[in-house]
Amino acid sequence: MNLQRFPRYPLTFGPSPITPLKRLSEHLGGKVELYAKREDCNSGLAFGGNKTRKLEYLIPEALEQGCDTLVSIGGIQSNQTRQVAAVAAHLGMRCVLVQEDWVNYSDAVYDRVGNIEMSRIMGAEVRLDEAGFDIGIRPSWEQALEDVRKRGGKPFPIPAGCSEHPYGGLGFVGFAEEVRQQERELGFKFDYIVVCSVTGSTQAGMVVGFAADGRARRVIGIDASAKPERTREQILRIARHTAELVELEGGIADEDVVLDTRYGGPEYGLPSEGTLEAIRLCARLEGVLTDPVYEGKSMQGMIDMVRNGEFAEGSRVLYAHLGGVPALNAYSYLFRNG
Ligand SMILES: Cc1ncc(COP(=O)(O)O)c(C=O)c1O
Repeated sequence: MNLQRFPRYPLTFGPSPITPLKRLSEHLGGKVELYAKREDCNSGLAFGGNKTRKLEYLIPEALEQGCDTLVSIGGIQSNQTRQVAAVAAHLGMRCVLVQEDWVNYSDAVYDRVGNIEMSRIMGAEVRLDEAGFDIGIRPSWEQALEDVRKRGGKPFPIPAGCSEHPYGGLGFVGFAEEVRQQERELGFKFDYIVVCSVTGSTQAGMVVGFAADGRARRVIGIDASAKPERTREQILRIARHTAELVELEGGIADEDVVLDTRYGGPEYGLPSEGTLEAIRLCARLEGVLTDPVYEGKSMQGMIDMVRNGEFAEGSRVLYAHLGGVPALNAYSYLFRNG
């Protein structure tokens, strides 16, 4: 496998830490050891997250092409757009963000707090659009690119979740390499890696990265899109493309993409009672926060699987904490009593 031939622009602090979730593991019976790899605090750029790691492999292309404006898209409380805004500010570039109405939920200040607030503070041009949830390419986004060109700028398009960008999967191939290095230091290997999936390139990159040591099927994706067929198809497609880029031997089989569909409901962006319980449990036992859109659902999935005995006794499970905590502010009503 050859990731090194791709240029990487450093935006993170370096390897993200792996920390044990001791009290949560004990609370769940102590038969499975839970750990978290903290992508939620992987950078000093507006809290970082999984997109910051992905952007390290996209930004060299933007700089090489002489682009001056990063253009991206997501929901109103998109974490991706907040991270793109931070990277643009950091690099002295402009930023245009299309923020669509992906979520059937509105706290009174849903479009003013959390991620979107931070993007505005960092100087991004935020365009609210009424289109609903879709992880594909949108006319509003094409329009934003066109408007930058008309103004004489040179846009660099960054699709939702970085996923449709040809290099979108590379960052999380690097994540797997980093885990292998950390495992050497820890003196053990993880049996499973739990990851939240929506636009797919995070899991796709991991599947490729962990395929290199035979663990592709140990990457347990937890769907948070509530449209899992589309997400699964996208993970597989991006994984195959990324595998070709890094010249992975053996390629990617259908079965290498494991996507659990039990926890995505009731809808994208809306937590179930189980999601809220998982968010509170992890927060109260560990002081580790997760959000109702993404990580709360993968946390819920991991907790539920431990409770159901789905991981063999003695397993070590690595929870990939991909970020997303700023969105909590937009869901304050749900937590008004804690
Ligand atoms: C916090 C968080 N977790 C998980 C995901 C899902 O990652 P991906 O879109 O690469 O599947 C995202 C973005 O969509 C996210 O912002």
